[in-house]
This record gives sequence, structure tokens and C-alpha cells, in this order.
Amino acid sequence: MTAYSIDATARRATAKPRDAAFYQNPYSFYAELHRGAPTFLWEDYGHWCFSGFKDVSALLRDKRFGREILHVMTREELGWAAPKDHTAAFDRTEKYSLLALEPPAHTRLRTLVNRAFVSRNVEQLRPRIEKLANETIDSFESDGGVELIKAFAAPIPAVVIAEMIGLPADMAPQLLNWSNRMVQMYMYRVTHETELDANQASEDFMAYLREVIAERRRAPREDLLTHMLTADPVDGQKLSEDEVISTAILLLNAGHEATVHTTGNAVKTILESGLDPSRLFANEAQTAATVEECLRFDAPLHMFTRYALSDIEYEGATFKKGEVIGLMLGAANRDPARFKEADMFDPFRPDGANVSFGAGIHFCIGAPLARIELQVALATLFKRLPTVRLAAEPSYNNVYHFHGLERLDLSW
Ligand code: HEM
Repeated sequence: MTAYSIDATARRATAKPRDAAFYQNPYSFYAELHRGAPTFLWEDYGHWCFSGFKDVSALLRDKRFGREILHVMTREELGWAAPKDHTAAFDRTEKYSLLALEPPAHTRLRTLVNRAFVSRNVEQLRPRIEKLANETIDSFESDGGVELIKAFAAPIPAVVIAEMIGLPADMAPQLLNWSNRMVQMYMYRVTHETELDANQASEDFMAYLREVIAERRRAPREDLLTHMLTADPVDGQKLSEDEVISTAILLLNAGHEATVHTTGNAVKTILESGLDPSRLFANEAQTAATVEECLRFDAPLHMFTRYALSDIEYEGATFKKGEVIGLMLGAANRDPARFKEADMFDPFRPDGANVSFGAGIHFCIGAPLARIELQVALATLFKRLPTVRLAAEPSYNNVYHFHGLERLDLSW
């Protein structure tokens, strides 16, 4: 039995996000969508989805659609239940998250965060990331094999983002614990226990950050936390403590998971391709192109949604205010209308591009950092372990939209 069905004439499809046969390889579904129904109603989600590169790129930039809806409609109008008391701490961390805001609130916060973010030129972090990658490989090189996600892909970005924010590297495991428990809230069908646990993690995380912020106010340092606390005002307003806390938590949550998954997916892709890694990382320009092709070929985040902020007509389809649409980044990256041999991994392709970091006002603020982390981590790994190979068939996590490996067993 196939994992999905598509009715191209009716422009409807079913594919169960929790069905292993589907999420282990969503690309055959995407290929069929591109052939017959790039825009379709995904019955399991109950909303329209777009898989074409042109549509996804255009809709990410279309200001008539937003990530948030409560600034233009009430919960009653949307038929939503009231916020839950037992997730109040989690909701508070979300309240000032860039990903939960739309202009003008988003513009002000993003400008302030961005200033702080780019003022520490992320390029300067390259030597530190190289050192981290080498030290991490030192710790397992003589074993002749490793489970890469836990031993290499996860710790590097956690330490990098913790240090950049201004938190000690030895706090990285605790930060990850809070972060992992909080991101459970974005999964499909969240249980009451998960909500309680995510809320507790949010409370503990906020309490910890409040302590560090108090220290930074007493003794400022050269770190992102201090930069955010002291950034010049935009529209007469500085960042409030709650905004600084939300942003620090978002950077950790958003910045970690996707980088870990991209590292794992990229190593799997390269090893399965049979291409010679020394050619893929031969110089800086080729290393950057290889990373971009890895991001295109097996993106870590496959779908983001948007709300129609008013009644909208787009390419002959109509959307009512408050209606949700799905933008399929992972599918857009494989659109044959945009890429020659779209289903082939080719780090030397002349038509390289991808929407893995999104586009428009929510374009990933961490993209320059993620790119450096990936370039350094992958180039170092393949240089240090030239005979590395897959030791077991890799399998993906059971969450369709967070497309990353459960484990990646390697040997050399
Ligand atoms: C390969 C790694 C990464 C990928 C694929 C990725 C992908 C994305 C995507 C697709 C979005 C936009 C979501 C939307 O439009 O709905 C986004 C936003 C964001 N990302 Fe990343 N990301 C990565 C790494 C990072 C890192 C390292 C950081 C932080 C250090 C980060 C911080 C953020 C933030 C703060 C936003 C929200 C921006 C806004 O709403 O204005 N990301 N990311």
C-alpha cells in the first residue's frame, strides 16, 4: 500500500504525517504533486498546501499572509478555546517571540535583535567552531565508529549558540533539556503531560535567564544578552526584559534543532551519493555550494503555515480571513520547474538555490551562523575521517515537518 494518495483532478491528497512509510521518504509524494497537483487540499491537515518553488517563495513574501492572526481576529471569531492556565509560562515565552509576531511589533523587535545579532560578526566565530568540531571528533576518533547525531551534530550548535548569547558552555546540556521539552509543544496532538512538562521547562528556563540578566545589568559583557539589554531604542523603545528572555529562548530553540537535523541529513546524503567528499569540500566556495545543495536536497523543516490576514485571492484560489495555508519548503526545493534533475544531489549544479531558511520578513535570522556551522562541521568531519561510511540504515524521527534523523551510525 502506498503511503499517500493524490486526486489531481480534484486537487486533493491524503498522506498521514505520522505514517512511517510517508515521513521516511516524503519525496515520492512531492514528485507526484509536482507532476499533477502542486497546489492541493491536504485532507489530513484540512488546509490548502503549496509545493511549487515559485508559489512558496512568493507566498512567504506575501504580506497579506501572516504567521500570527490574533492581531486581526479574536479567539471567538476563530472558534478557538481560551488560553490554558497550565501553559501560561510557555505562552509567556511565546508572547514576544519573533515567530509569533507580525508588523509593526515584529519590525521593531527584529530590528533590535538583528542589530545585536549582526553587530557581533558571526564570521568571527569560525575559528571557535573549528576548534569545537575538532575537539568533538578527538573524543570519538579512536572508537572506529559513532552515533553522529548525539556525539557531534547536537553538541556543536548548542555550545555555539549558548556562548553567543553569553551563557556558559557547560550549561548547554541543561539548555537543550529545557529547549527539547518546550519544542514538544509544536508536535502533532500534544498530550496534557507534555503541556505540563513544557510549561515547567519554560518556568525554569525563564528563572535562569532572569538571574543571568540581573548579573549582566550589574556587569555588562561582550555577549548577545548584554547587546540586547543595551541596544539603542527603535521607535523610542528598548527591548523589555520579557522580550530579551523570549528572544534568547527562541534563538536556542529555533537555532538548535534545525542545525542538528541539517548536519545529520547532509552526512547521510553525501555518504549515500557515493561522491568523493574531498571534491565536495575542496575549497571555500565549493564547501559553501555543497552546504546549500544539502539544504536543498534534504531540508530539515518541511512545512510552515500562514494565516490569510484578510479575504484573499491568489492565482485563482480564494482564501477567507483566518484560513490556514501550508508552505512546503522541502517540496519546493525539489520542484522540477525550478531545478534540473531536481531529485538528484548535485553540489556542482549551476542552478542551486533553496527556501530552507524561508523568505520575506521571517527569513531565518540565524542563517549566516547556521551556514558557517554547517560548512565547518561537515568539512572538518570528512577531512578528519576520510574513510567514514554508514554503519546502519538511517531512519528519520516520527515528526513529518521536523525532518531529521533519529540516529546516524557511522564507522571508519
Ligand atoms: C540549518 C539551520 C536552520 C534552518 C534550516 C532554519 C530555518 C528557518 C526558517 C525556515 C525560518 C522561517 C520560518 C517561517 O517563515 O515561518 C526561520 C526563522 C528563524 N530562525 Fe532559523 N533556521 C536554522 C538555524 C537557525 C539558527 C542557528 C538560529 C539562531 C541562532 C535561527 C533563528 C531563527 C529565528 C530567530 C527565526 C525567526 C525570524 C523571524 O520570525 O523574524 N535559525 N529559520
